[in-house]
Amino acid sequence: MASTELYDALVEVCRDRRTSREFDPDVEVPREHFDMILEAARHAPSGANTQPWHYVVVTEPEAKAAMADYFIAEASRRAKLGMKFPTPNYRGLATAPGVIVVIADFRWINAFPVLNDGSELDALYKQNAERILLQSVAASTMSAHLAAAALGYGVWWVTAIGQENAQSELKPLLGVPEDLAIIDIVVFGKPLKPPYKRWKKTMDEIRSFETYNADLFMDQKAIETWIKETRHKVMFRDESRID
Ligand SMILES: Cc1cc2nc3c(=O)[nH]c(=O)nc-3n(C[C@H](O)[C@H](O)[C@H](O)COP(=O)(O)O)c2cc1C
Repeated sequence: MASTELYDALVEVCRDRRTSREFDPDVEVPREHFDMILEAARHAPSGANTQPWHYVVVTEPEAKAAMADYFIAEASRRAKLGMKFPTPNYRGLATAPGVIVVIADFRWINAFPVLNDGSELDALYKQNAERILLQSVAASTMSAHLAAAALGYGVWWVTAIGQENAQSELKPLLGVPEDLAIIDIVVFGKPLKPPYKRWKKTMDEIRSFETYNADLFMDQKAIETWIKETRHKVMFRDESRID
C-alpha cells in the first residue's frame, strides 16, 4: 500500500487552515515567504492554461492603510444600504504583515469557448468563460492560501471584486493597469488571537454516490432561513457586527 505521508500532510494543512482577521504587526513576514507562497500559486491549473493572474506584494504601510480605509468605508456603505451582511472589522488589514493583491485579466476569456459575434448565444458562452476565468484565479489563490497556512500563518481572504469603487480606488494606489481587475487580497500573518476552527459540513452532507442525494437538497426557503439565522454564527464568533 502506498504511503499516505504526503496526503496526510496536505490534508492537515487543509484542515488546519483558519481565517484570522487580526495579526501581530510585530511579526514580520520574511521576503522569501512571499515567494514560497506565490510558488504554490504559480502552479495552479487554469482554463486553457492561460494563467490569467498576477500578484502584487504590498509592504508599504501607507498602501495597506489606504486599502483598510477603503474596505471600512465600503462596509459602512453596505450598512447604509441595509444589506444586513455580517461585516468583519477591516482595520486588521492596515497592520497585517502579509498582503498580496490578486489581479485578474478578464481579457483572457477570449481564450475560452466564445463566439465573439455579439449574439445571445455568445452572451451565454461569455458568462461561462467568465466563470472559467474566476475559477482559474480562485484555484491559484487557494494554493497561495494553503501555502501560507503550511508556513503557519493565519490567512484572510478579502474579496474586492465587482465594485467599481474598489477598482477606481485601489488600482491607482498599486499602479494596476486599467484593463486589469483587482479581485481579492490574500492577507496573512501571525494571528493576534488564537484562530478557531469554523463549522464545516460533514462528509455525508457534501457527498452523494452515483446520483445526487435528494435528502440533502435545500429548497430556497431553507436557504433563506439559514442566511437569516445561521450565517453570522458560522462566519464569526465574537468579532462581527450585524448591519
Ligand atoms: C471567495 C471567498 C471570499 C471571501 N471574502 C471575504 C471577505 O471579503 N471578507 C472577509 O472577511 N472574509 C472573506 N472570506 C472568508 C470567509 O468568511 C471564511 O473563509 C469563512 O467564514 C470560513 O472560515 P474559514 O476560512 O476559517 O474556514 C472569503 C472567503 C472566500 C473563499
